[in-house]
Amino acid sequence: STNIILLAIESSCDETSAAICQNGKILSNIIATQKIHEQYGGVVPELASRAHIQNIVPVVDTALKKANCALNEVDAIAFTQAPGLIGSLLVGTQFAKSIALALEKPLIAVHHMQAHVLANLIADERPEFPFLCLTVSGGHTQIVLALSPLKLEVIGETIDDAAGEAFDKTAKILGLKYPGGPLIDKYAKDGNPLAFKFAEPQVPDLNFSFSGIKTSVLYFLQKQIMINPNFIEENLKDLCASIQHTIINVLMKKLKKAIQQTGVKHVCIAGGVSANSGLRKTLTDFGLENNIKTYIPDFQYCVDNAAMIAITGYYKFLNNEFSSLDISPSARANW
Ligand code: KG4
Ligand code: ZN
Repeated sequence: STNIILLAIESSCDETSAAICQNGKILSNIIATQKIHEQYGGVVPELASRAHIQNIVPVVDTALKKANCALNEVDAIAFTQAPGLIGSLLVGTQFAKSIALALEKPLIAVHHMQAHVLANLIADERPEFPFLCLTVSGGHTQIVLALSPLKLEVIGETIDDAAGEAFDKTAKILGLKYPGGPLIDKYAKDGNPLAFKFAEPQVPDLNFSFSGIKTSVLYFLQKQIMINPNFIEENLKDLCASIQHTIINVLMKKLKKAIQQTGVKHVCIAGGVSANSGLRKTLTDFGLENNIKTYIPDFQYCVDNAAMIAITGYYKFLNNEFSSLDISPSARANW
């Protein structure tokens, strides 16, 4: 058919999201963020699944209404099948299956990390294939070589913590609320990025390591606090700027290496950490100085969202990649 309408559902972590897409164009993208986890300093899986159960009907309903679309106009249902928190994934999977069964419409299983990359195909101005994507979120850090919408190769990834975890865990050491990434970004704006120096990991190839930065920050602060108990408060902005600078340096070093190795001239970022203003500016400046075209999705498509599931589902639909109703979600997934 020439008019393809997709309903997409994302529930892999602590965001319940639904989107409607018509012929690859996003008509609505509703995201319900779960506030409940803030007080625990991290995502509590059991609470996340329960919140998804509460959110999913109103979120899907709002997405349909905002797109001016009736449920029976939907041609297929795309959903996040992996990776993520298993309880959270189960809610979205069961819901997607139920609708598919009721409407007698096909089901499309989508890989969350693949979808983060393809979020770069939502805007009118899109990267050309082949392109590179640095996917940086709370759970993942990858460099992906995209050969076509459905042909993505992971050419580098973290061997321990994700970039978002590096932000969140160091923020926690500084006494900031969860998730600390956006707060580090905020305070870093008025700080000196060269005020403090933290150890940068030495990892071969295009892989990353972030657990050492956290330890380096922790030991440094323990020492300083013994001398001056108010050290963090008095230096918060410089600390945030220096931590952010270190993380961006690590990311950019490997991204530049990937650009050199592949010769690819179109480069994207994706995932929650691509909301970081320092990373966005560094990447944009790098592109301008080196004749590399850079792309950053709108903020709503950087964080966990169903629009990216919809766009990926659309390419799978065109390629006839459907799933049967007995498909199960998976916490881990290689691709
Ligand atoms: O993609 P995402 O919303 O969820 C996951 O799939 O993980 O990413 C969340 C991560 C968190 O670690 C959060 O601290 C980080 O993205 N983040 C940021 C910023 N906004 C979100 N990190 C640094 N600077 C930001 N502005
Ligand atoms: Zn994500």
